[in-house]
Amino acid sequence: MSMSQKRMNTPTWEEALFLAVHRMIQAVRIHKDNNELVKASLKQFKKVLSSRELTDDLAVLIFEERFFVDGEKIRFRRELAGLIQVLVEFFRRRGLGGLSFGPSVGNASETEILRFMRWLVQSVEQDNPYTWLKEKLETTDFSWIGIVQEVKSQHITPEDDLRERGRLIYMHALTSVKQMAEKISTQGHAGVRKAKRMVQGMVDIVTKDDGVLVGLSSIKDYDDYTYTHSVNVAVLSLCLGKRIGLSRVPLEHLGICGLLHDLGKVEVPLEVLTKAGALNAKEWEEIRKHPIVSAKQILMLNASNDLKSKIFLAPFEHHIRNDMTGYPYTSAKQEVSLFGKILHITDVYDAMTSPRAYRPFAFSPDQTLSKMMEGSGSDYDPTLLKIFVRMMGTYPVGTLLEFNTGEMGLVMEGPKDSFGSHPRILLLEKDGQGGVKGGEAVDLSEKDPRTGTYRRTIVRSLNAASYGIQPVEFLYN
Ligand SMILES: [Fe+2]
Ligand SMILES: [Fe+2]
Repeated sequence: MSMSQKRMNTPTWEEALFLAVHRMIQAVRIHKDNNELVKASLKQFKKVLSSRELTDDLAVLIFEERFFVDGEKIRFRRELAGLIQVLVEFFRRRGLGGLSFGPSVGNASETEILRFMRWLVQSVEQDNPYTWLKEKLETTDFSWIGIVQEVKSQHITPEDDLRERGRLIYMHALTSVKQMAEKISTQGHAGVRKAKRMVQGMVDIVTKDDGVLVGLSSIKDYDDYTYTHSVNVAVLSLCLGKRIGLSRVPLEHLGICGLLHDLGKVEVPLEVLTKAGALNAKEWEEIRKHPIVSAKQILMLNASNDLKSKIFLAPFEHHIRNDMTGYPYTSAKQEVSLFGKILHITDVYDAMTSPRAYRPFAFSPDQTLSKMMEGSGSDYDPTLLKIFVRMMGTYPVGTLLEFNTGEMGLVMEGPKDSFGSHPRILLLEKDGQGGVKGGEAVDLSEKDPRTGTYRRTIVRSLNAASYGIQPVEFLYN
């Protein structure tokens, strides 16, 4: 054993991966393919990657000089700081934001790996290393490796950092629910570790600033509805949970409930889920089974019984109304659990604000909230609903508004004043190609110094979908 290994103790898997990549890059830089050092580094690289079974792409990303593996920020022991800095610099000079390893990486041939590593090293001499590498990769059929472009982060403020982290976690959470659902339908069971990690990341963010997550929940993906919906329900539930003072551990459980509440939909036939017209009695029957199936599947997850006992009930209850009607039918005299009540509110909100197969338009956020208020007490727990409505603000982030000036704009940020009527707005301008682009950011509390009146007042809220606008595209750029 060499000195350096002795001092290092056993590296974590992530550390071993970075050590192996670093070693290989250094070897390839100096030596030819048949060199012993190159061969040894190649062997080490393959050993590390095959010691962890990848069931899906493993993303290694750099953001703000920090590495993230699968969405989780990696903390390295101090001894590795120098080496990590070298790697950060290596990727930065090539305009790369990271790599993604495919599940087939264990079968990649040594020639392929070397070829890629050499390209990676050489790319720095190109005008645009990222495009050059991408073109190189397109000439191959390497399914085990992908490159990611650098996320430009000039003038990053702590708030932006939080936003970017939020966005990363949102995307990772999305893939993790999707994979769980796929695993359950093919293998009958799945683990919960990854979903749990994503929720922990979300809890980190929500305890700092819940506005970030509320904004992200304006992502609506029509094609991937069930999954974006699940992440949105998790996100909104966490924000509401935080408002009512839940502490970290219950928040984690609540977030997992949100991610998994519709898991049972994997057993609903796709024709029923995506049917454009009204459902017949038999189809309704299929839909109404999903909360029971969700609960059943949660109980079958590879997770501790303790965890499962805390997360199966709310998904079972999420379609039961406050007056105990709804589904599944239960003769229980007991009220719906707190988590169940929260999920019911966030679930309806996200469903109504999303376009669906049977309803190609979505209700605008403020329309949705006022419709929901009509069901206060009968459908929703009145206290929780009131807190939820206040949390979302009169015009939730992502609402498209029309002003007395004739301008149109998107709500970017909740209002700083407590009345909730003067949010920050991103004005939209015509892009000259029939669409719109983001323009100036303004504050609705701005007054005209001459007249003393507000510069802009809200005329009405508009339906973003009917203007072909996906709010989140503008808000997170
Ligand atoms: Fe549901
Ligand atoms: Fe749902």
